[in-house]
Amino acid sequence: MGTEVVTSSEPLERLAGSVVIPIVPEGAVDGSLSFRNASLRNWIERSVRAVGVTGRVGQGAVLPPCEGMAADRLIAVGLGGAAQRTLTDVRRAAAVAAKLAVEAGGQSLVWPLVPVAGVRDTSVAHALVEGTVLATYRFHRYRSVESAARIERLTITAGADVEAGIHSGRLVSEAVTFARDLTNEPGNLLNPERLSGIAWEVAQEVGLECAIYDRALLEELGAGAILAVGQGSVREPRLVHLIYRPKEGVRGRVALVGKAVTFDSGGLSLKPAEGMERMKGDMAGGAAVLAVLRALPALELPLEVHGIVAAAENLPDGNAFRPGDILCTLSGKTVEVISTDAEGRLLLADALTFAVRQGVELLVDVATLTGACAVALGRGGSGVFASDERARDLLLQAAAEVGERMWPLPLWEEYRDQLRSEHADLKNTAGRWGAAINAALFLREFTEGRPWLHLDIAGPAWAEQGGLFGPAGATGHGVRTLIRFLELWAGWRGSELA
Ligand code: BES
Ligand code: MN
Ligand code: ZN
Repeated sequence: MGTEVVTSSEPLERLAGSVVIPIVPEGAVDGSLSFRNASLRNWIERSVRAVGVTGRVGQGAVLPPCEGMAADRLIAVGLGGAAQRTLTDVRRAAAVAAKLAVEAGGQSLVWPLVPVAGVRDTSVAHALVEGTVLATYRFHRYRSVESAARIERLTITAGADVEAGIHSGRLVSEAVTFARDLTNEPGNLLNPERLSGIAWEVAQEVGLECAIYDRALLEELGAGAILAVGQGSVREPRLVHLIYRPKEGVRGRVALVGKAVTFDSGGLSLKPAEGMERMKGDMAGGAAVLAVLRALPALELPLEVHGIVAAAENLPDGNAFRPGDILCTLSGKTVEVISTDAEGRLLLADALTFAVRQGVELLVDVATLTGACAVALGRGGSGVFASDERARDLLLQAAAEVGERMWPLPLWEEYRDQLRSEHADLKNTAGRWGAAINAALFLREFTEGRPWLHLDIAGPAWAEQGGLFGPAGATGHGVRTLIRFLELWAGWRGSELA
């Protein structure tokens, strides 16, 4: 799949394709590069100044091939000074270079491994792979004509062994790609049954335990909320349960719980027509969970991880659930439906109860849950709600490390009263104000006091416009943070047990 990544110990001058030249401030070639022919450096630096690349991260320009190098073209990218640059800078510069190479029609990209102060070479290689793959992602399955070339091969020229970084970089980027692909699939082609089928295939492929609950099994289980959300569609709901078990040394047990509404019309509380097509992406949380589980066997983390995805299509037909309905959730708590468009929290209510029953020490749910969260934080980042400070701090650390924006939001107790219902234990909405917080408080009712994190990814899951790390459409937001978070959680659990 995708871009092949290799290493080479050949001198840069001898490599064909699009060769990246990292530029540091004042327009100089990065000091780590050495040329046998000293005049090359001068030629490049003069050209770089001519096209206005001064060394700032984000800058980039294509230079024509030059005498003395086998390259088809040079790609000058700003990388900041060697002492200041970070992995985030490397990831960004890699994205800039990859885009320029693709635009120029190049399919083979060469990156010299650049030093980053205090960071291992393997991590730099990882960032190069990630930036390259994410930036050049496209979802063109249903186009008759591929519009542009892509990077077939990335060569990293390194003295040291960076295979581990390449391996992890590929693994993580492929996880993001997988989540984006699923999320971009339209509602007519990706329904709950198909989604569960894909989960099953993935489980066979990478080696995960897998159980799928169809309507009959959900009825037997008593998952009244999932059934209610799905009952207005002929495409019946599913609950997917994947388990990753490490071969040895379990340090902890975590559940990742995802909302997967394969299309959210709002149900009888119908959404406005404008922009409704974007609601094919209302399964981004579930897609992220599947993507992370898919990557886990290769990561070999010493954690038992349960991936629980509640999938349904929210449509209004003659059998649809209604405002005013009272549902009996898997937990036994009853919920009065105020809005059928607040369906995500209903799915998650049952999925969280199911997760609690797996005996995990930490619940993490991921969901495109509220427009309000996107209004509060914008499209840039997701809201994080937590009942456990340690887990929250590690999650925010993970997000900062991988360069995804996540921001803590409060679980204010006073708001809990707004979820009281006259005729049931809870109602599923509490009005317009603080809707992201109220949704989170609703979910908390189904966590049975377990340490819990809730990621509301409604804003960043979908990009209205293309950006540095991908085109318009699904972003795969959350996948990289969750993978890093699980590593940190395993590390912390390890230190606690020791
Ligand atoms: N899937 C939506 C949330 C959403 C909105 C995701 C925009 C991505 C972009 C969710 O099911 C929903 O409809 N939420 C309602 C909740 C309301 C009825 C309390 C919302 O945000 O309006
Ligand atoms: Mn909805
Ligand atoms: Zn929804």
